[in-house]
Amino acid sequence: MNECIEPGPAEAVDALEVQAGDPVIEVRHVGTVLGGVRIHKDLNLTVTAGEVLGIIGGSGSGKTTLLRLMLGLERPSEGEVLVFGQKLGKCEATDLARVRHRWGVLFQQGALFSALTVFDNIALPLRELKSLPKDLIAELVMTKLQQVGLKPEDGIKMPAELSGGMVKRVSLARSLIMDPQLLFLDEPTAGLDPASSKGFVQLIESLKREMALTVVMVTHDVDTLFAIADRVAVLADQHLIAHGPLEQVVNQPHPFIRNFFLGHAERCAADNLRSYRDALHHRDELAA
Ligand SMILES: Nc1ncnc2c1ncn2[C@@H]1O[C@H](COP(=O)(O)OP(=O)(O)OP(=O)(O)O)[C@@H](O)[C@H]1O
Ligand SMILES: [Mg+2]
Repeated sequence: MNECIEPGPAEAVDALEVQAGDPVIEVRHVGTVLGGVRIHKDLNLTVTAGEVLGIIGGSGSGKTTLLRLMLGLERPSEGEVLVFGQKLGKCEATDLARVRHRWGVLFQQGALFSALTVFDNIALPLRELKSLPKDLIAELVMTKLQQVGLKPEDGIKMPAELSGGMVKRVSLARSLIMDPQLLFLDEPTAGLDPASSKGFVQLIESLKREMALTVVMVTHDVDTLFAIADRVAVLADQHLIAHGPLEQVVNQPHPFIRNFFLGHAERCAADNLRSYRDALHHRDELAA
């Protein structure tokens, strides 16, 4: 018996296609203790196919740790996490690879390898497969460069020659190179100026539609949630204190939530959100 990834229902293990609304990630009664310190208590959360889930919470509230649990990089002290119907456990690298190819990750400290060119950074996951011809790798990397709004000639640049926004785009291209169905983003706009941040969020939104991605995104940025989050989960006091559509979460009385959304309640109302997103979408179409 493989104790690393235990099969869920047989159909879930083999089904590579997920339909909108299917559960992609299930966090069930998860508790986490790291270095003797309790981080999470009884977390329950389902991420469904096609949605963008935003995770918010104060610094140190356990957002990155929750992502790491969903990636099988951390093991829960209690409860279980299922991704694509498979239970993540104490995994051998080879076992985890079976589901790992179905997701991409943009880590919070998602630095590029400074000694590799942009092209080589993006090509890395493909080269690790050791089975793809050089020409195909080149073609796939060029396609991804273009998809994230970079030029073919950016491929020869070194990371030190890139702006902050370009580094994020290259990291995003690398996380999408295997054409995943699920994308994890940890603070995708941290460190970007407002204009670059807006551009990057619009890029994520259009890639999400183009590639039919399910997205789990940790952010502290209200504008990012406002632009793309279908639902929001809030971590505080070791618990998920709220989760649901933005317009519902924003009105919860918990002090963290009140403080986080201070002055933003009106723009998070359902009608305002809809018209803002329609306008964003329309502008993308005009630009295309
Ligand atoms: N491997 C570890 N061993 C012990 N403690 C850890 C470990 N990883 C994280 N922690 C602790 O767990 C808590 C949650 O960390 P985590 O990185 O998940 O927070 P976060 O919500 O992502 O914070 P930030 O907003 O600053 O990124 C912190 O107190 C951190 O010090
Ligand atoms: Mg973090």
